[in-house]
Amino acid sequence: MSSRFAVILAAGQGTRMKSSLYKVLHPVCEKPMVQHVVDQVTALGFEKKVAVVGFGAEVVKQQLGDQVSYVVQEEQLGTGHAVMQAESLLKGEQGTTVVLCGDTPLLTAETIGKLLDCHEKEGAKATVLTAIAEDPAGYGRIIRDEKGLVERIVEHKDASDQERNVCEINTGTYCFDNASLFAMLKQVGNDNVQGEYYLPDVIELLKNAGEKVAAYQTPHFEETMGVNDRIALSEAENIMKRRINHYWMRQGVTMIDPAQTYISSEATIGRDTVLRPGTIIHGKTVIGENCDIGPHSEIKDSVVDNGTVISQSVIHDSEIGKAVRIGPFAHIRPQSTIGDDVRIGNFVEIKKSTIGNGSKASHLSYIGDSEIGEGVNFSCGAVTVNYDGKNKFKTIIEDGAFIGCNANLIAPVTIGKNALVAAGSTITDDVPSEALSIARARQTNKEEYQKGKQ
Ligand code: UD1
Ligand code: CA
Repeated sequence: MSSRFAVILAAGQGTRMKSSLYKVLHPVCEKPMVQHVVDQVTALGFEKKVAVVGFGAEVVKQQLGDQVSYVVQEEQLGTGHAVMQAESLLKGEQGTTVVLCGDTPLLTAETIGKLLDCHEKEGAKATVLTAIAEDPAGYGRIIRDEKGLVERIVEHKDASDQERNVCEINTGTYCFDNASLFAMLKQVGNDNVQGEYYLPDVIELLKNAGEKVAAYQTPHFEETMGVNDRIALSEAENIMKRRINHYWMRQGVTMIDPAQTYISSEATIGRDTVLRPGTIIHGKTVIGENCDIGPHSEIKDSVVDNGTVISQSVIHDSEIGKAVRIGPFAHIRPQSTIGDDVRIGNFVEIKKSTIGNGSKASHLSYIGDSEIGEGVNFSCGAVTVNYDGKNKFKTIIEDGAFIGCNANLIAPVTIGKNALVAAGSTITDDVPSEALSIARARQTNKEEYQKGKQ
């Protein structure tokens, strides 16, 4: 195996996206398109990976960091011109250079590997990855001679009606002999409809110079889809979603309706977990085994331990323990840590709080900026009053305390171990351990009161 290098084209603006976000940074299943490409390339272990950046260079560099080296294409004069910029980093190298576009997020390492194998087996100077498209409009077409050998690639905009009937398309991914690539790029002109230096012209130039060019046709057109507009973006999202869902189902996750289950590229899910329709797992969420999630739940950048049940709820940036029951209609906001065997019931909101093992807030509560111990019962309608309009204050509830219905705990306040706060109390002072605290107006009954009014 000779040395292998990769050039990833990511300098275009992506005019057809009509977006202030640079095209290759548009996410597919929450991962920027160009990151998908770099991940697949990285899996193959290239010696050098060069990204050509231009529009939005700084933001693209921020995304890719030191995963690749960079060259800048100051002016976007076409894909051939873009590759030429990489010469400074690849000049004099002996080996195979794979060129890929940053806007083909579905391409897999497996397919790139097959292209490389074909290229090396054929001993070609260039091998283009092609596919049969049902609707080839917009793509460059592969023009073959009467023997079926690749002659050249013609861009859609430059193609004749007859050429436009060709369904075999240029996927925009190629293998080149490194030295031949940079030698031929110097001969590429821009005499075409778009006035651009086309990388695919290298194929024809090599052919005319008597060099061997080859094509590897993948049976998976969908992998090679180039995302140029929002419609293609939504199609890519769908295909990637299906791919991710199939992966997790093969790992032992049950999905009641995969079409309505959304899992980020970076999330992980344990076996025997059930995901119900309308479940959306965002970001770097980690879900354990034997969980039951959904329907209609959203979990973002959180950790959920084994055996936890979450229905119709929203959880962000939090950690949830084992065998916890959440919902329906609970909202766990950032920086919350929920212990094991906890119950968070309907219409309960938790914010920036820790809740110890076995505690319960089963109905209609707000718990904010609080530290709650183990085995605490936070009854229906009880709330922590953490905000005075200016500052936030902390509530501490120690193990075994019982907070009665509709109690208001005015923070800062501490409720001691095993203390009992009577229903309806408004607590402004600390409650000692084991105490009963009642803080509410005494009831008076005025006998026959209503009768006197008649
Ligand atoms: C390109 C191919 C076409 C192929 C299609 C596959 C050319 C001339 N055409 O067309 O044959 O069927 O891809 O998806 O190559 N870029 C730069 N600098 C530039 C121009 C483009 O870095 O000056 C980058 C873009 O950011 C993008 C990639 O190159 O990632 C492809 O460019 P794009 O304009 O999308 O090319 P297509 O018109 O799709
Ligand atoms: Ca494209």
